[in-house]
Amino acid sequence: MLGSGGKKSQTVRAYTSCNEARKAVKQRRKLEPFKTPAKRYLVSRALGCGGHQGSDTMNIEANKIAGAVLSTLLVVMGLNMTAGIVFAPKKPAVTGFDLPSEEPAHGGGAAAAVAAEDPIAVRLAKADPAKGEKATAACKACHTFEKGGPNKVGPHLFGVYGRSEGSVEGFGYSAAMKGRNDKTWDADGLDHFLKNPKAYVPGTAMAFAGIAKPETRADVVAYLNSLSDSPQPLPKP
Ligand code: HEC
Repeated sequence: MLGSGGKKSQTVRAYTSCNEARKAVKQRRKLEPFKTPAKRYLVSRALGCGGHQGSDTMNIEANKIAGAVLSTLLVVMGLNMTAGIVFAPKKPAVTGFDLPSEEPAHGGGAAAAVAAEDPIAVRLAKADPAKGEKATAACKACHTFEKGGPNKVGPHLFGVYGRSEGSVEGFGYSAAMKGRNDKTWDADGLDHFLKNPKAYVPGTAMAFAGIAKPETRADVVAYLNSLSDSPQPLPKP
């Protein structure tokens, strides 16, 4: 037995604080399988020994930590409940919210849209055909712009301003575009078409997303108008 050697039992005793060395060693053996300090503490209590010093200190530490964790949880739960009571959400009887009704209901939206984007005539006053020519680089995959230029994926665009829509001889327009040749391309129509071709001419074969910037569109319209033997006067604001 381990405890029979005087020196050894002294050592054991030194750090067990159980009254007898033998008891202490037995105690230790019994407690060995219990891994956590808390379990060892409980078992040592049940066996009638105060447990050794180190274990006690650890138990107090463990208790402190457990206490801290529990009280934190309590505080968090308490806060949660208090907040729930204080900030209880009030459910409205009718969902949604009222819109300010100073302006007449109709026309408000249109006015806002116009405010965000100047009319084409206003933008044309400041338009630059040279800038417009640069912006048509993206069109050149499908269109020619010079006089007598051939049709490509799209019809040639020389003289398109003032030309009937969908009217170039020998070009295979979509049914949507062909159906519009009672109309003439003007500044307003070109501006809308180039903003979003598919929205202005639903079913068009022109696979082009559109030019988002209003100023750039005005530049392009001014440039397209210049592609003519006799450019037309552009609309004035
Ligand atoms: C991917 C090819 C493609 C690109 C890029 C493209 N277009 Fe077109 N465009 C077409 C096609 C195809 C048509 C004929 C549409 C139809 O028949 O519905 C067309 C038609 C047009 C028309 C009407 C012509 C007419 O005779 O009625 C105009 C104006 C026009 N494009 C301008 C432009 C401009 C300006 C750009 C560049 C900002 C551009 N397109 C970019 C393919 C393209």
